[in-house]
Amino acid sequence: MIAPAASVFGNVHLGYIVIETDKFADWRRFGQDAIGMHYDDTLPDVTRFRLDDNECRFLLQRGPAEDVTALGWQLDDHDTFDEILSRVTRHGVPVTEGTSEEAALRGVERLVRFPGPNALAQEIFTRARTSDTPLAMRIGSGFVTGESGMGHVAITSKKPHQMRGYYNTVFDARLTDYIDETISGVKLKIRFLRLNERHHSVAIAAVNRLPVNPIRTRIQHLNIQVAELDDMVASYQRVKEHGFHMALAVGQHTNDRELSYYAMTPSGFEWEVGWNPIVIDEATWEPTTYQGISIWGHTPGGQTIIDKLAQFKIASLSLVRREDAVAALAGAGIPDN
Ligand SMILES: [Fe+2]
Repeated sequence: MIAPAASVFGNVHLGYIVIETDKFADWRRFGQDAIGMHYDDTLPDVTRFRLDDNECRFLLQRGPAEDVTALGWQLDDHDTFDEILSRVTRHGVPVTEGTSEEAALRGVERLVRFPGPNALAQEIFTRARTSDTPLAMRIGSGFVTGESGMGHVAITSKKPHQMRGYYNTVFDARLTDYIDETISGVKLKIRFLRLNERHHSVAIAAVNRLPVNPIRTRIQHLNIQVAELDDMVASYQRVKEHGFHMALAVGQHTNDRELSYYAMTPSGFEWEVGWNPIVIDEATWEPTTYQGISIWGHTPGGQTIIDKLAQFKIASLSLVRREDAVAALAGAGIPDN
C-alpha cells in the first residue's frame, strides 16, 4: 500500500514575482522613490527590486504585456519540491526546467515552471541567493517576509472554484475566509487561501454567477508588508507626492485586519502596501464570511475594481475572453460553502 502523500501546507512561501513591462523609468520611480524598495539595475536588460537579503523579489523584464507573468514559490525542502513536481506531472501537466540564466535573473539556484490558472506561470524553487550589497531602502523598518512569504496576490477569475481546486491540488491551500461585497447591485465574492501562516497568499475574486472578468491584468493586485506603521504611512505620502494614482487610500480590511493602501503601478495593476495583518493559528482557526472588504477607509481615488465590475455588468458578455483554468490540476473544483 502506498502511503498517502504528505501535505505541503506550510512549506510554500511567495518568493518572487516576475513582471513584463516597457516602462522601466516609471517603475524605478514607483518602486524605489515612491514605495521605497531597493533598486537594482546591475544586470543588463532587467530591473530588480529587493525587500530583504534575497537578491530578487521583483524581476522586471522588457516586453509589451504590462502585467505580472509569473509567481515564484519558495519551498522549504527538496521533499516538498519533489512532491509538488510529482503532483503536476502525474496530472499530465508539462513542467519546464528553468535555464541557468533564468535562475540567475530570479536570484535562485534552480527553478521549475508549470502553467497556472489565468495564464499566470507558476515557478517553484528551494534556495534563494542572498546579496552582499547592503540594502538601500526608504522603508527603514524593512519588509515582513520569511515564513509568511513576501506578501500575497489577488486574482479575478471567471472560474473561482476551479482556481481554488488548482491551488488545493498543487499547494494544499486552505480556505482562510470569504468576503462578500456588493456595490451598485453587483455581488462579488472573494476567497482567501493560505499556504502558510500568512492570512492569505492568494485571493480569488469573482462576480457571483456571472462568467465575467473585468480585469485586464493577470493579477488585480499584489501586496507587500512593511514592519512598522510609520513606514506604511510615509510610503503612502511618497506615492502621492510622486504623482502616482492612489487606487484606495489608507484603510483597514475586515478579515486580516491589515492596514493598507493601494497604489496603481505603471503597468496598470494595483500594488498594496500593508502593515500588521493577523497571523493564522492553525489550532484554532475557523473560516467565516465577512461582509465588505474594509472596516474603515480604503476610499477610492478614482475608478476601482468595484466600479469596473459595475460597468462590466452593463457591458456585453461578448467581451468575455477565454480563461485557462489548467483543468487537469483544477479537477472538479471546490465550491464555496
Ligand atoms: Fe490584498
